[in-house]
Amino acid sequence: MEKIKVGVAGLGFIGPAHIEALRRLPDVEVVAINEFGNELAKAKANSLGISKSYGDFKDLLADPEINCVHICTPNFLHYPMAKSALQAGKNVVCEKPLANTVKEAEELVELADKSGLVHAVHFNIRYYPLVRHMRMMREKGELGRIHSIIGTYLQDWLFYETDYNWRLEPDKSGESRAIADIGSHLMDLIEYISGLEVTAVMADFATIHPKRKKPTKEIETYSGKMLKPEDYEEVPINTEDYATVLLRFNDGSKGVVTVSQVSAGRKNRINLEISGAKQTVNWCSESPNQVWIGNRDKANELLMRDPALVHPESAKLISFPGGHNEGFPDTSKQLFKEVYKAIREGKQPSQPSYPAFGDGLRELILCEKIIESHRKEAWIQV
Ligand SMILES: NC(=O)c1ccc[n+]([C@@H]2O[C@H](COP(=O)([O-])OP(=O)(O)OC[C@H]3O[C@@H](n4cnc5c(N)ncnc54)[C@H](O)[C@@H]3O)[C@@H](O)[C@H]2O)c1
Repeated sequence: MEKIKVGVAGLGFIGPAHIEALRRLPDVEVVAINEFGNELAKAKANSLGISKSYGDFKDLLADPEINCVHICTPNFLHYPMAKSALQAGKNVVCEKPLANTVKEAEELVELADKSGLVHAVHFNIRYYPLVRHMRMMREKGELGRIHSIIGTYLQDWLFYETDYNWRLEPDKSGESRAIADIGSHLMDLIEYISGLEVTAVMADFATIHPKRKKPTKEIETYSGKMLKPEDYEEVPINTEDYATVLLRFNDGSKGVVTVSQVSAGRKNRINLEISGAKQTVNWCSESPNQVWIGNRDKANELLMRDPALVHPESAKLISFPGGHNEGFPDTSKQLFKEVYKAIREGKQPSQPSYPAFGDGLRELILCEKIIESHRKEAWIQV
């Protein structure tokens, strides 16, 4: 079987994670990478054992061997890169957020739909097997009518005023930070699992550090701890470190999410609790191989990830037997398995099982409404 050839753009934190996941698929081969400038591109390609490197994205798109492009660059580059990749006839897997504005995302959805090419957004958290299991529990009526959804996504990598990254600059990251960066995953999970639509939002943001110390040299995500005090300059910060958003859903049920990038000790913790008329389910990304099931009239349960114990639809996302834990790197592999099946079949399915550009647009719509709500201090209809 001829392998599907792939090019990956942006090799900071998540780009190499895409490559590692792609290398676990038998019918896919990463043949080239693109980084900012020829020298960096060559160095990254060498370190990852990839033969072709391009310092300009246009050259990667001109490579006729490449069938699919993964976009893993900072947010502001997603729109222009995804647009030019589709125009060059490449299938596209784009990191979240799909673009920086709703207008850009709408244009990408239209272009992608017209092209017939395969398009996906890397909402990989959906691919923890027990996340899909919770969705299947809801679909099969095991939760009953949903009463409430409570989600948190907490991190601490921007805890100190000396912590810095391009995500703190709106021209690179967009108008919202914590909501767009990690809230997007949480909102996507909530609608994906519950099958409900958010119809109104009421948001309250906080910027814990209105000024931060910016390093005078470029750094990659999560590598800021290496710098010394003399390497910084003070800059104003205009995006949120923390946000709480009240949610109303289309069936009248309610929810709330809190996101923070300044919660000491919480490295990257998603916690989601959905209470229904029959049961409650709780899942946490720090112990992703178990889901807690709460009962009123009998003992609570703890379901371990095991292909023999979950619904068959979720067992499809499990590659190892129970007790052999799977985690974050496995989620991308499972998402890419579904995307590359579509690429091999030659078209975007009408109802893809994976998150597509339309799902990316949905998150941007929610994000813009959340920002509007915070600014106006009012409920905003979605
Ligand atoms: N799905 C997830 O779980 C997840 C996790 C982390 C990041 N992300 C997303 O991935 C994207 C990248 O995040 P990151 O944490 O890897 O950032 P990063 O800063 O660590 O890496 C970005 C890389 O892009 C490169 N780059 C910058 N400009 C470029 C250009 N013009 N051409 C080619 N390469 C260029 C940089 O040199 C750097 O290596 C973001 O949009 C982020 O939201 C998603």
